[in-house]
Amino acid sequence: MFVGLLVTAVALADEPAVALADEPVRVLVTGATGRTGSQLYAQLAHTGIERRAFVRSAEKARKVLGCTKCDESEGIYVGEVTDTAALVRASRGVSTVAIAVGVDGNATAKVQKAVEFGGVEQTLAALGQPANVARFGLPALRVVLCSSMGTTLPAPGKEKGGGILFWKLQAEAYLGATGIGSTVVKPCGLVDGVAANATLLVGHDDTLLSTVPPLVSRADVAAVMAAAVLERASALRFDLCSKPGQAQSARAVLGMALWPWQKAPRGF
Ligand SMILES: *[C@@H]1O[C@H](CO)[C@@H](O)[C@H](O)[C@H]1NC(C)=O
Ligand SMILES: *[C@@H]1O[C@H](CO)[C@@H](O)[C@H](O)[C@H]1NC(C)=O
Repeated sequence: MFVGLLVTAVALADEPAVALADEPVRVLVTGATGRTGSQLYAQLAHTGIERRAFVRSAEKARKVLGCTKCDESEGIYVGEVTDTAALVRASRGVSTVAIAVGVDGNATAKVQKAVEFGGVEQTLAALGQPANVARFGLPALRVVLCSSMGTTLPAPGKEKGGGILFWKLQAEAYLGATGIGSTVVKPCGLVDGVAANATLLVGHDDTLLSTVPPLVSRADVAAVMAAAVLERASALRFDLCSKPGQAQSARAVLGMALWPWQKAPRGF
Protein backbone atom coordinates (compact mmCIF):
# COMPACT_ATOMS: atom_id res chain seq x y z
CA MET A 1 0.00 0.00 0.00
CA PHE A 2 1.01 3.57 -0.61
CA VAL A 3 0.32 4.81 2.89
CA GLY A 4 3.20 6.85 4.23
CA LEU A 5 4.37 10.05 2.63
CA LEU A 6 1.29 12.13 3.02
CA VAL A 7 0.53 10.83 6.46
CA THR A 8 3.99 11.85 7.57
CA ALA A 9 3.60 15.23 5.93
CA VAL A 10 0.48 16.11 7.80
CA ALA A 11 0.80 14.03 10.94
CA LEU A 12 0.01 15.79 14.16
CA ALA A 13 3.16 16.82 15.94
CA ASP A 14 2.42 14.73 19.00
CA GLU A 15 1.25 11.63 17.18
CA PRO A 16 2.91 8.49 18.52
CA ALA A 17 5.17 6.75 16.03
CA VAL A 18 3.50 3.37 16.47
CA ALA A 19 0.17 4.18 14.79
CA LEU A 20 -1.82 1.28 13.39
CA ALA A 21 0.79 -1.05 11.97
CA ASP A 22 -0.62 -4.12 13.69
CA GLU A 23 -4.24 -3.12 13.54
CA PRO A 24 -6.63 -3.87 10.71
CA VAL A 25 -7.77 -0.61 9.13
CA ARG A 26 -11.51 -0.61 9.40
CA VAL A 27 -13.61 2.21 7.99
CA LEU A 28 -17.23 3.02 8.60
CA VAL A 29 -19.00 4.88 5.79
CA THR A 30 -22.08 6.77 6.98
CA GLY A 31 -24.66 7.73 4.38
CA ALA A 32 -23.37 4.70 2.49
CA THR A 33 -26.42 4.22 0.29
CA GLY A 34 -26.42 7.86 -0.82
CA ARG A 35 -25.21 8.92 -4.23
CA THR A 36 -21.70 9.82 -3.06
CA GLY A 37 -21.51 7.36 -0.16
CA SER A 38 -22.35 4.35 -2.31
CA GLN A 39 -19.54 5.20 -4.73
CA LEU A 40 -17.12 5.65 -1.86
CA TYR A 41 -18.17 2.30 -0.41
CA ALA A 42 -17.66 0.66 -3.80
CA GLN A 43 -14.27 2.29 -4.33
CA LEU A 44 -13.04 1.04 -0.95
CA ALA A 45 -13.55 -2.58 -2.06
CA HIS A 46 -10.32 -4.49 -2.75
CA THR A 47 -8.18 -1.93 -0.93
CA GLY A 48 -7.27 -4.23 1.95
CA ILE A 49 -9.45 -2.12 4.21
CA GLU A 50 -12.39 -3.65 6.01
CA ARG A 51 -15.51 -1.68 5.15
CA ARG A 52 -18.60 -1.09 7.19
CA ALA A 53 -21.68 0.78 6.05
CA PHE A 54 -24.08 2.75 8.21
CA VAL A 55 -27.41 2.91 6.41
CA ARG A 56 -31.00 3.82 7.14
CA SER A 57 -32.48 0.88 5.27
CA ALA A 58 -31.23 -2.67 4.80
CA GLU A 59 -33.55 -2.90 1.80
CA LYS A 60 -31.88 0.04 0.09
CA ALA A 61 -28.46 -1.36 1.03
CA ARG A 62 -29.38 -4.60 -0.75
CA LYS A 63 -30.15 -2.68 -3.93
CA VAL A 64 -27.28 -0.20 -3.79
CA LEU A 65 -24.39 -1.92 -1.99
CA GLY A 66 -24.74 -5.45 -3.31
CA CYS A 67 -24.96 -7.07 0.12
CA THR A 68 -26.92 -10.28 0.67
CA LYS A 69 -28.01 -10.46 4.29
CA CYS A 70 -27.30 -6.76 4.73
CA ASP A 71 -26.77 -7.13 8.45
CA GLU A 72 -23.85 -6.78 10.81
CA SER A 73 -22.35 -10.09 9.64
CA GLU A 74 -21.70 -8.29 6.34
CA GLY A 75 -20.66 -5.04 7.96
CA ILE A 76 -23.99 -3.35 7.30
CA TYR A 77 -25.28 -1.40 10.30
CA VAL A 78 -28.79 -0.01 10.17
CA GLY A 79 -29.64 3.19 12.01
CA GLU A 80 -30.03 6.96 11.90
CA VAL A 81 -27.23 9.45 12.54
CA THR A 82 -29.42 10.82 15.31
CA ASP A 83 -29.34 7.41 17.06
CA THR A 84 -26.35 7.42 19.40
CA ALA A 85 -26.57 3.76 20.37
CA ALA A 86 -26.65 2.60 16.75
CA LEU A 87 -23.65 4.80 15.88
CA VAL A 88 -21.64 3.60 18.87
CA ARG A 89 -22.28 -0.01 17.89
CA ALA A 90 -21.32 0.55 14.24
CA SER A 91 -18.17 2.46 15.24
CA ARG A 92 -16.79 -0.03 17.75
CA GLY A 93 -13.36 -1.18 16.56
CA VAL A 94 -13.32 1.37 13.75
CA SER A 95 -10.42 3.83 13.39
CA THR A 96 -11.77 5.86 10.46
CA VAL A 97 -15.22 7.17 9.67
CA ALA A 98 -16.11 8.63 6.28
CA ILE A 99 -19.19 10.83 6.50
CA ALA A 100 -21.27 11.09 3.34
CA VAL A 101 -24.56 11.98 5.00
CA GLY A 102 -26.56 14.92 3.81
CA VAL A 103 -30.14 16.14 3.76
CA ASP A 104 -31.80 17.41 0.59
CA GLY A 105 -33.07 20.93 0.10
CA ASN A 106 -36.58 19.98 1.18
CA ALA A 107 -35.60 19.01 4.71
CA THR A 108 -37.14 21.09 7.48
CA ALA A 109 -34.92 23.45 9.46
CA LYS A 110 -35.10 21.03 12.39
CA VAL A 111 -33.98 18.05 10.32
CA GLN A 112 -31.21 20.09 8.69
CA LYS A 113 -29.71 20.85 12.07
CA ALA A 114 -30.29 17.37 13.48
CA VAL A 115 -28.56 15.61 10.58
CA GLU A 116 -25.95 18.06 9.27
CA PHE A 117 -24.70 19.17 12.69
CA GLY A 118 -26.12 16.88 15.37
CA GLY A 119 -25.47 13.83 13.21
CA VAL A 120 -21.81 14.75 12.78
CA GLU A 121 -21.39 15.51 16.48
CA GLN A 122 -22.84 12.13 17.40
CA THR A 123 -20.81 10.31 14.76
CA LEU A 124 -17.59 11.83 16.11
CA ALA A 125 -18.56 10.97 19.68
CA ALA A 126 -19.22 7.39 18.57
CA LEU A 127 -15.82 7.16 16.86
CA GLY A 128 -14.23 8.61 20.01
CA GLN A 129 -15.90 6.06 22.28
CA PRO A 130 -13.55 4.99 25.09
CA ALA A 131 -12.85 1.54 23.61
CA ASN A 132 -11.63 3.08 20.33
CA VAL A 133 -9.47 5.69 22.03
CA ALA A 134 -7.94 3.01 24.27
CA ARG A 135 -7.26 0.73 21.33
CA PHE A 136 -6.00 3.14 18.68
CA GLY A 137 -5.10 6.33 20.58
CA LEU A 138 -6.91 9.59 19.86
CA PRO A 139 -4.35 10.98 17.37
CA ALA A 140 -4.73 7.87 15.19
CA LEU A 141 -8.48 8.27 14.71
CA ARG A 142 -9.53 9.73 11.38
CA VAL A 143 -12.61 11.33 9.89
CA VAL A 144 -13.18 12.12 6.21
CA LEU A 145 -16.11 14.51 5.99
CA CYS A 146 -17.96 15.43 2.83
CA SER A 147 -19.15 19.00 3.38
CA SER A 148 -19.81 21.60 0.70
CA MET A 149 -18.42 24.68 -0.93
CA GLY A 150 -20.37 27.88 -0.31
CA THR A 151 -19.83 28.13 3.43
CA THR A 152 -18.14 31.56 3.22
CA LEU A 153 -21.39 33.19 2.08
CA PRO A 154 -22.80 35.00 5.13
CA ALA A 155 -26.41 34.66 3.95
CA PRO A 156 -26.65 32.16 1.09
CA GLY A 157 -30.46 32.12 1.03
CA LYS A 158 -32.75 29.13 0.96
CA GLU A 159 -32.34 28.45 -2.77
CA LYS A 160 -28.62 28.01 -2.16
CA GLY A 161 -29.20 25.72 0.81
CA GLY A 162 -28.50 28.45 3.38
CA GLY A 163 -29.48 26.49 6.46
CA ILE A 164 -27.71 23.36 5.28
CA LEU A 165 -24.48 25.23 4.56
CA PHE A 166 -24.65 26.92 7.94
CA TRP A 167 -24.93 23.60 9.75
CA LYS A 168 -22.25 22.00 7.60
CA LEU A 169 -19.87 24.77 8.66
CA GLN A 170 -20.80 24.19 12.32
CA ALA A 171 -19.98 20.52 11.83
CA GLU A 172 -16.59 21.38 10.29
CA ALA A 173 -15.74 23.70 13.18
CA TYR A 174 -16.76 21.07 15.71
CA LEU A 175 -14.65 18.43 13.97
CA GLY A 176 -11.65 20.76 13.96
CA ALA A 177 -11.58 20.85 17.74
CA THR A 178 -12.10 17.15 18.51
CA GLY A 179 -8.46 16.04 18.38
CA ILE A 180 -9.42 13.57 15.65
CA GLY A 181 -7.35 13.77 12.45
CA SER A 182 -9.58 14.96 9.66
CA THR A 183 -9.99 15.61 5.97
CA VAL A 184 -12.86 17.91 5.00
CA VAL A 185 -13.78 17.81 1.31
CA LYS A 186 -15.95 20.73 0.20
CA PRO A 187 -17.26 20.00 -3.30
CA CYS A 188 -18.94 22.45 -5.66
CA GLY A 189 -22.14 21.34 -7.44
CA LEU A 190 -22.44 17.56 -7.42
CA VAL A 191 -23.35 15.73 -10.60
CA ASP A 192 -23.40 12.11 -11.69
CA GLY A 193 -20.76 10.87 -14.09
CA VAL A 194 -17.67 8.74 -14.13
CA ALA A 195 -14.56 9.20 -12.02
CA ALA A 196 -11.23 10.35 -13.45
CA ASN A 197 -12.66 12.07 -16.54
CA ALA A 198 -11.92 15.67 -15.56
CA THR A 199 -9.17 17.80 -14.11
CA LEU A 200 -9.87 18.32 -10.43
CA LEU A 201 -9.42 21.81 -9.01
CA VAL A 202 -8.47 22.36 -5.39
CA GLY A 203 -9.05 25.66 -3.63
CA HIS A 204 -9.95 27.36 -0.39
CA ASP A 205 -12.46 29.92 0.79
CA ASP A 206 -14.84 29.52 -2.16
CA THR A 207 -12.54 31.02 -4.81
CA LEU A 208 -13.60 28.10 -7.04
CA LEU A 209 -17.19 29.33 -7.04
CA SER A 210 -16.14 31.24 -10.16
CA THR A 211 -15.57 27.93 -11.99
CA VAL A 212 -17.88 27.61 -15.02
CA PRO A 213 -19.74 25.35 -14.68
CA PRO A 214 -19.13 24.85 -10.94
CA LEU A 215 -19.55 21.08 -11.03
CA VAL A 216 -17.71 17.96 -9.90
CA SER A 217 -18.78 14.35 -10.23
CA ARG A 218 -19.80 12.42 -7.14
CA ALA A 219 -17.49 9.66 -8.37
CA ASP A 220 -14.51 12.04 -8.22
CA VAL A 221 -15.50 13.26 -4.77
CA ALA A 222 -15.73 9.64 -3.66
CA ALA A 223 -12.29 8.91 -5.15
CA VAL A 224 -10.70 11.78 -3.25
CA MET A 225 -12.42 10.67 -0.04
CA ALA A 226 -11.21 7.10 -0.61
CA ALA A 227 -7.65 8.38 -1.06
CA ALA A 228 -7.93 10.30 2.21
CA VAL A 229 -9.11 7.13 3.95
CA LEU A 230 -6.24 5.08 2.50
CA GLU A 231 -3.61 7.71 3.27
CA ARG A 232 -5.00 8.28 6.74
CA ALA A 233 -4.66 11.96 5.86
CA SER A 234 -5.25 14.64 8.44
CA ALA A 235 -5.27 18.43 8.79
CA LEU A 236 -6.78 18.85 5.32
CA ARG A 237 -9.79 21.00 4.45
CA PHE A 238 -10.31 22.11 0.88
CA ASP A 239 -12.75 23.03 -1.87
CA LEU A 240 -13.04 20.60 -4.79
CA CYS A 241 -14.33 21.39 -8.25
CA SER A 242 -13.47 20.32 -11.80
CA LYS A 243 -12.95 21.43 -15.37
CA PRO A 244 -12.67 19.43 -18.60
CA GLY A 245 -9.27 17.90 -19.09
CA GLN A 246 -6.78 15.30 -17.99
CA ALA A 247 -7.51 13.61 -14.68
CA GLN A 248 -4.95 13.39 -11.88
CA SER A 249 -4.67 10.65 -9.29
CA ALA A 250 -6.88 11.23 -6.26
CA ARG A 251 -3.79 10.99 -4.11
CA ALA A 252 -2.14 13.82 -6.05
CA VAL A 253 -5.25 15.90 -5.39
CA LEU A 254 -4.70 15.46 -1.65
CA GLY A 255 -1.17 16.75 -2.09
CA MET A 256 -2.55 19.83 -3.89
CA ALA A 257 -4.68 20.54 -0.83
CA LEU A 258 -1.70 20.95 1.51
CA TRP A 259 -0.84 24.46 2.66
CA PRO A 260 2.71 25.64 1.86
CA TRP A 261 3.79 25.13 5.46
CA GLN A 262 2.49 21.56 5.35
CA LYS A 263 4.29 20.83 2.09
CA ALA A 264 7.64 22.52 2.46
CA PRO A 265 9.24 20.29 5.09
CA ARG A 266 8.42 17.20 3.02
CA GLY A 267 9.01 18.53 -0.48
CA PHE A 268 5.47 17.83 -1.61
C1 LIG B 1 -38.17 18.52 -3.16
O1 LIG B 1 -39.50 18.04 -3.30
C2 LIG B 1 -40.01 18.13 -4.62
C3 LIG B 1 -41.46 17.75 -4.58
O2 LIG B 1 -41.64 16.52 -3.90
C4 LIG B 1 -39.18 17.27 -5.55
O3 LIG B 1 -39.65 17.34 -6.86
C5 LIG B 1 -37.73 17.73 -5.50
O4 LIG B 1 -36.91 16.87 -6.25
C6 LIG B 1 -37.23 17.76 -4.07
N1 LIG B 1 -35.93 18.39 -4.04
C7 LIG B 1 -34.85 17.75 -3.61
C8 LIG B 1 -33.59 18.55 -3.60
O5 LIG B 1 -34.87 16.60 -3.24
C1 LIG C 1 -15.71 12.72 -20.21
O1 LIG C 1 -15.72 14.14 -20.25
C2 LIG C 1 -16.01 14.69 -21.55
C3 LIG C 1 -15.96 16.21 -21.43
O2 LIG C 1 -14.73 16.63 -20.99
C4 LIG C 1 -17.38 14.24 -22.00
O3 LIG C 1 -17.62 14.72 -23.31
C5 LIG C 1 -17.47 12.71 -21.98
O4 LIG C 1 -18.78 12.32 -22.27
C6 LIG C 1 -17.06 12.18 -20.61
N1 LIG C 1 -17.00 10.73 -20.64
C7 LIG C 1 -17.79 9.97 -19.90
C8 LIG C 1 -17.61 8.49 -20.02
O5 LIG C 1 -18.63 10.43 -19.14
